Amino acid sequence: MPEPRTFRDEPVSFVRRSGRMSEAQERAFAELAPRYLLDVPRDVAWTSVHPEARMDPAEEYGRVAPLIVEIGSGQGHAIVSAATERPDDDFLAVEVFRAGLARTMLDADKAGVRNLRLIEANAPEVLSTYLPEGAAAEVWIFFSDPWHKKRHTKRRLIRPGFGDAAARAIADGGLLRLATDWEDYALQMREVLDAEPLFERAFDGDWAERFDGRVMTAFERKGIAKGREIRDLVYRRKPRA
Ligand SMILES: C[S@@+](CC[C@H](N)C(=O)[O-])C[C@H]1O[C@@H](n2cnc3c(N)ncnc32)[C@H](O)[C@@H]1O
Repeated sequence: MPEPRTFRDEPVSFVRRSGRMSEAQERAFAELAPRYLLDVPRDVAWTSVHPEARMDPAEEYGRVAPLIVEIGSGQGHAIVSAATERPDDDFLAVEVFRAGLARTMLDADKAGVRNLRLIEANAPEVLSTYLPEGAAAEVWIFFSDPWHKKRHTKRRLIRPGFGDAAARAIADGGLLRLATDWEDYALQMREVLDAEPLFERAFDGDWAERFDGRVMTAFERKGIAKGREIRDLVYRRKPRA
């Protein structure tokens, strides 16, 4: 019998931290999860997604609107700010860090944000099966963990094969936006995505302009404080044949 294929056959781009939550965060989870957090059917691991499960965005948001997906949303600063600024678009945060999800829900609630949902899961699985094909107008990945030690680079999220999952989830002409403070990872992102037949560069020159919908986060601030240059990239999903 063929072996069932799961993403857990490949290294994941995160280490599940035990992530002790504060009392406020525990409360946020209990109180706000029914409004914000999608109940994802699992496969082998807690952060997995059952390969047959499919999200229905119209049902989750109660309307049909352009959907922006942020992968690795951390504390949620970028996505809560964007969801507040753009009430006509819908936003989906994908993150495995529970305390970050709790923070995101607390801030979203405080800002009265209703066009945001969260998923606690391994992002490649969300892109390659859980989202309906072509559902995302844009996918954002800001300050993806650089896994800079040589023996760890195989854990990087943007590696050969990632483009297929992203291309499946993104609508024709939709955008994949990235930013990183790690030069070597920026070069890898550009090499991997330049080689992707389903994407084309949507910037001139070596790197994209800073995306003005991207707010400063603690990770960016830390990178700048250490003297690292911030690089943005943006790729367009080519039309399906
Ligand atoms: C360096 S942090 C950056 C957070 C945020 N984008 C920012 O700029 O502040 C990277 C985040 O990606 C999350 N992450 C890494 N791999 C992931 C995966 N496969 N699926 C979902 N989230 C992931 C981590 O838990 C972490 O919170």
